[in-house]
Amino acid sequence: MNVLPVEAPAAAEATNAGRTAHVIAAIRARIATRSLGPGAKLPSIRKGADLFDVSPSTMVEAYERLAADCVIQARPGSGFYVLSSPAPLVLADLGPRLDRAVDPFWVTRQSLEAPAESLKPGCGWMPPDWMPEQDLRRALRSLARTGATSLTDYGTPLGLLPLRQHLTRRMAETGIEASPSQVLLVESGTQAIDLVCRFLLEPGDCVLVDDPCYFNFLALLRAHRAKIVGIPFTPSGPDLDAFAEAVATHRPRLYVTNSAFHNPTGATLSAATAHRLMKIAEAADLTIVEDDIFCDFEQQPAPRLAALDGLQRVIHVGSFSKTLSAATRIGYIAARPDWIDGLTDLKIASSFAGPALAAELVLSVLKDGSYRRHLQAMRSRLAAAMGETRRRLARLGIAPFIEPRGGLFLWCSLPEGHDATDVARLALADGVVLAPGNVFSVSQNAPSMMRFNAAQCADPRVFTVLERALCRA
Ligand SMILES: Cc1ncc(COP(=O)(O)O)c(C=O)c1O
Repeated sequence: MNVLPVEAPAAAEATNAGRTAHVIAAIRARIATRSLGPGAKLPSIRKGADLFDVSPSTMVEAYERLAADCVIQARPGSGFYVLSSPAPLVLADLGPRLDRAVDPFWVTRQSLEAPAESLKPGCGWMPPDWMPEQDLRRALRSLARTGATSLTDYGTPLGLLPLRQHLTRRMAETGIEASPSQVLLVESGTQAIDLVCRFLLEPGDCVLVDDPCYFNFLALLRAHRAKIVGIPFTPSGPDLDAFAEAVATHRPRLYVTNSAFHNPTGATLSAATAHRLMKIAEAADLTIVEDDIFCDFEQQPAPRLAALDGLQRVIHVGSFSKTLSAATRIGYIAARPDWIDGLTDLKIASSFAGPALAAELVLSVLKDGSYRRHLQAMRSRLAAAMGETRRRLARLGIAPFIEPRGGLFLWCSLPEGHDATDVARLALADGVVLAPGNVFSVSQNAPSMMRFNAAQCADPRVFTVLERALCRA
């Protein structure tokens, strides 16, 4: 039988109604987080009363109300049981209960749901007019014309071979050696990490992330019931002393990171940090997920963990959402052959087949040379936008953590005394979506930080609204 939590009700609640509500809330929370599963037997009235430090009549009332709400069921002569159909999993209820403004979903939901006229310096992708729309349309037309592409069949389990071959050649440019049979095509970078978590994690396993890190890592890891531990991030990668200590203390199963243009800091892993990190990982038999979604923003490749390790303990993932198309939904996983085999079975189990049409489309754009030209143009435009954004932020007293050598993000501290969440809420009322620091922080230690996407900062109204919000916050 699961042991229920015993927390003293707050003084103001210490009335009969307050005690009953407290017991009900505690049981509901256990059911919502699945620590009391369907069919689990609840403590008897007497035992429950002892556990919660309430009277038996309070316990009876709590159980009766839960039964009336069809949350639990009384079985005469046997006791009370959790009903077999639990409430759906609510991710926002997992992990610390935070103000909605610092919830990892906040920036994504606000950015995706924002009316067309909103400005989105907090979002993590490029504006549509920065993407190679015409190249994609041309590739779509040619796909429609050719009979070679199946519009009706499932693709192969690993995914389109010529695209996997192309990806291995691209990876070789950053020193990652993989054969096409070590590459699995999936629908996105997010699905890649989800499959890896399904493959390697048990609920309760510890996963290390950078602090700060991409907020959806936190959301996804919570969905997998992982214990998340943050490692402070420096301009050259994770703080290695903290990393070594966390590895020794928590015996993590995974570490998830970005080596190039880390989200949100824009930092790039240094060679020295990469080598020491791999040594610690090897000694502890730690698996690393290297999410390389920003690789195509790079002019000069930074060190890749997957290259140092030869894809033994590093799983390398990527996607084309940031530089080609977020609508197409395509991603990939490169890993050791036996892991690719297991991941392929999981892909079949959870989505049956991969993105066959999207793979044809992406391959077509990658092959014809237009993608390389698009990247050259985008990098120069981005470098100019970065410089301009930095200058405009500096006028408001907003200072970057580092000067990134490329990419789209500037991770900045607000002027003394300002709370980024308050500023983000005020700006949202004026139609500007910002990304307050704590959405990226597992330890919630970035209250005065904010991430800016230089590609989304062209409109001067971003800075007018920001200035007004800073004055009012
Ligand atoms: C670091 C990082 N990884 C993965 C993703 C998600 O990519 P995809 O669209 O391929 O799921 C993002 C999107 O913002 C990201 O910033």
